[in-house]
Amino acid sequence: MSSYDSLLEEIKSRIDIVDLISQYVNLKRAGQNFKALCPFHSEKTPSFVVSPAKQIFHCFGCGEGGDIFTFLIKHEGLTYREAVKELASRAGVELKGFKGEAGRDEKALLLKLNRDALTFFQESLMKDQRARGYLEERGIGRDAQRMFSIGFAPASWDALRSYLEGRGYRTELLIKAGFIAKGTKGYYDVFRNRLIFPIYSLRGDVVAFGGRALDDSMPKYLNSPETVLFNKGRVLYGLNLARDSIRRTGYALLMEGYIDVIISHLYGFTNAVAPLGTAITEDHGRLIKRFTDRVVLVFDGDQAGIMAAKRATSLLLLAGVDVRLLCLPEGDDPDSFLRRDGADAFRDLLERPLSIVDFLMRYGKDRLTIARDAIEMLSKIPDALIQGSYIKMLSERLGINEFFIIEELKKVRGRVRRGEAAEGPVDSHGKRPLDEIYIIRLLLQMPERVADVFETISPEDFSDDLLRSIFNRMRRGVPDPDRLLLECHEEEKRVLSEVMLMDDFEEPDKVLRDCLNRMVIKRQRAMLEDLQSQIREAEQKGDSDRLLRLLQLKQEAILKGRRA
Ligand code: UTP
Ligand code: MN
Repeated sequence: MSSYDSLLEEIKSRIDIVDLISQYVNLKRAGQNFKALCPFHSEKTPSFVVSPAKQIFHCFGCGEGGDIFTFLIKHEGLTYREAVKELASRAGVELKGFKGEAGRDEKALLLKLNRDALTFFQESLMKDQRARGYLEERGIGRDAQRMFSIGFAPASWDALRSYLEGRGYRTELLIKAGFIAKGTKGYYDVFRNRLIFPIYSLRGDVVAFGGRALDDSMPKYLNSPETVLFNKGRVLYGLNLARDSIRRTGYALLMEGYIDVIISHLYGFTNAVAPLGTAITEDHGRLIKRFTDRVVLVFDGDQAGIMAAKRATSLLLLAGVDVRLLCLPEGDDPDSFLRRDGADAFRDLLERPLSIVDFLMRYGKDRLTIARDAIEMLSKIPDALIQGSYIKMLSERLGINEFFIIEELKKVRGRVRRGEAAEGPVDSHGKRPLDEIYIIRLLLQMPERVADVFETISPEDFSDDLLRSIFNRMRRGVPDPDRLLLECHEEEKRVLSEVMLMDDFEEPDKVLRDCLNRMVIKRQRAMLEDLQSQIREAEQKGDSDRLLRLLQLKQEAILKGRRA
């Protein structure tokens, strides 16, 4: 434990959360806990809970939650550092030589580690004819490799580990950074036989890596876990290179994949960026908004692509970014489209992207569904002028008087304010997958089961980002809840405080077994789907060798699924 951590623990041990919060909120006893009207959103019945036993608070209405530090940060609008200072002085704990955030030393160390790892990956690419050949074949030549600092992780179980340990990094740090993991036969390199795409922060630091398999191993792309440096929902691939171009062209070109971004840049579309294998978040929108308030969202015209585009659009609108949409022919991504049809054909498409109204009209069922979908989306737009222009457009296109649209919009907005909306931050905590929540709760109840759990599922199996990173923190054993809470980011604390307040399970072993089973089945299903789409691709291309290999893989996957 660092001296800084023990300082935080010292502060926590001296300040009781009930004392602290009752200075701001009128707390009433309710069984073991205290309750109050939530200070963070308006409500008529109390859903704000403070637990003296666990020293946490959580609001079941708005999802806010955490420890004493969180409370001050949220209530007084302090930064983390200020909150620590304030509470330290109230607790009479001296902050000698205190230099800000908890993770500072760890951050610096991880940055250095990532830089060294990148050097290794780049040197390995130089040594590997086959990996370079693959890149060349995909149109990513030497210059592009340099521009995107592409590397390669050799097909070895310990090459990266010995390289990094040779430079003095501790095993624990390598685990934390996601470079190695523990198997039955000891530690092994996580990235093997993969092209490596370093992910840069806006400051130009390498904060994570994405690795693409060069063979049929799954998953096709593997990303670094979340660390103090890296929060998936807040980073966009290529943004470090695209930022000026985004300002210049006045919009960001948002697409799905690493390779799509690279190829787009090579074809002159230097404002292209992509999320890292996760759905677009509102944070992505806010990140983009620092450079422009317009996005052209490139999407795949199949059912899944349309759904994803809708969701992404809503979240971007919420962040105050205006969205237009560019639909590619089915089965295409920007990479395949550009390489086949060229830059001019792509520019043609870019000249007439769909407005959100046209997008909904093209893919919606009937007039009323379209209107309702559109109204739901328009309700997200914070700027009244922009919203007004869409209302007008919608009214003209659908032949519905603006008055009725505005009436419906008012209703939707009222619902959002009362916290009943189907989407949005208000109830986002309610949509987390139950199995994932339960697993975290079960591990708190039965920390001794952590090895079993990690043997059966991995963080990649979690679809919820926050639960995944909490799960990740349990990798090397479950810390006691107090410690765990101290380690967590403020956002994770919101979730963790809720999970901590859940009652113990009466039959934890049975629940755990069921949860794990369902997660494994979910993974197998996703794997099969992925195989299936690769099979379709191989069929289309008439690649019979690959097809045969894939069919065999599919057969094996099905058999394995039956046995499980
Ligand atoms: P794609 O499968 O479309 O990959 O996934 P791609 O970028 O077009 O790559 P190629 O052309 O097959 O080489 C799009 C994005 O989804 C994420 C990655 O960020 C990828 O770039 N992804 C995909 C994952 O995170 N994991 C996966 O297993 C697959
Ligand atoms: Mn592709």
